[in-house]
Amino acid sequence: MKLNTVLSPKDLGNSYPALLSAASVTTVQQRKLHHALIPKGKGGRSSFSGIAATVFGATGFLGRYVVNRLGRIGSQIIIPHRCDQYDLMHFRPMGDLGQIIFLEWDARNKDSIKRAMEHSDVVINLVGREWETRNFRFEDVFVTIPQQIARAAREAGITKFVHMSHLNADIRSPSKYLRNKAVGETAVREEFPDAIIMKPSEMFGREDRFFNYYANMRWFGNAVPLIALGKKTVKQPVHVVDVAKAIISAIRDPDANGKTYALVGPNRYLLHDLVEYIYAVAHRPFVPYPLPRPLFHLAAQLFAMNPFEPWTTPDKVDRFHTTDMKYPGLPGLEDLGITASSVEQKAIEILRRHRRFRYLEAELDETKPAKTVNY
Ligand SMILES: NC(=O)c1ccc[n+]([C@@H]2O[C@H](COP(=O)([O-])OP(=O)(O)OC[C@H]3O[C@@H](n4cnc5c(N)ncnc54)[C@H](OP(=O)(O)O)[C@@H]3O)[C@@H](O)[C@H]2O)c1
Repeated sequence: MKLNTVLSPKDLGNSYPALLSAASVTTVQQRKLHHALIPKGKGGRSSFSGIAATVFGATGFLGRYVVNRLGRIGSQIIIPHRCDQYDLMHFRPMGDLGQIIFLEWDARNKDSIKRAMEHSDVVINLVGREWETRNFRFEDVFVTIPQQIARAAREAGITKFVHMSHLNADIRSPSKYLRNKAVGETAVREEFPDAIIMKPSEMFGREDRFFNYYANMRWFGNAVPLIALGKKTVKQPVHVVDVAKAIISAIRDPDANGKTYALVGPNRYLLHDLVEYIYAVAHRPFVPYPLPRPLFHLAAQLFAMNPFEPWTTPDKVDRFHTTDMKYPGLPGLEDLGITASSVEQKAIEILRRHRRFRYLEAELDETKPAKTVNY
């Protein structure tokens, strides 16, 4: 029986106390783990799942869902951060008292990476950025940092390492983000051959930069620029909660090590039809207009000069106009026991706040579902 898999006391039967002490001895010797890391309880937030996870990039969009899912099954979570402590307070109620630990880190400081995973058995890398800054280029965020984390995880004897890549990661992509994601995947595999690589398509959820981005385009005169009217791009967005669930399932699945998962939603849509649906749910007029790529880049270049969060960048234009790849050979959400939620089921959660007051409570049935395609 492997002691680092998640077992409940029920599974262990009468041998539980004996195993408990044996396990604690073994684990302490190998990984300096605290005896409190032995699974116990009924599986709720006050029990212990046996997972002690360091979540790099927890302060981002996906991070809060991952921490929430880990916290509710009773895990210990270490959150390395570089922001103010007060910006982390939303994490506090996600886990039991003392189970969520904050630690300052600097991605360029190897010791701080090591320190963050010193007492964990699981490491999750969610570090990412949609735009480049003077301090961190895409090469740093998507290649060097994941490589350093993977190396430190291997050296620390971490048993599970989850790395977030992107469905369209490709060395030939017009998007630098996606090219670096592809290089990052290879670099992580080299450092940590057993890494679990997740390749989600564009994620949607309350705090996303996808549905909200298109819905917010109404600020610019109610007209939505799309390359070729969005009729040459096919998207298969995935719900952020499904991705978070996939990460937890992969951590708990002993066979997941070394695998790459392609995480996509249940339906494929033309970008045009998807954005039309976004506007229909938001009860806003949809006025798309075709914008040639060079002109779109030029406009995006102006936004990209924003020293804070740029609303868009030329790279984002390219990424959003890239057709989602199909990976029939890779395992996906269903292999992790997850039924993917459709855009029609979840879009209202994101888009209600974009409605005018008089449509706030309007029924969803009035909105025709978006047309799907199968190519
Ligand atoms: N969002 C999507 O639709 C999507 C789709 C496919 C793949 N992904 C990938 O999934 C991962 C998570 O996505 P997300 O949307 O949650 O990203 P996000 O909201 O941009 O969050 C990124 C996280 O990375 C941290 N980070 C960025 N640069 C850093 C640096 N130089 N040093 C230290 N920390 C840094 C951020 O910390 P601060 O809060 O301190 O900035 C934040 O916690 C990323 O790798 C992303 O590329 C996302």
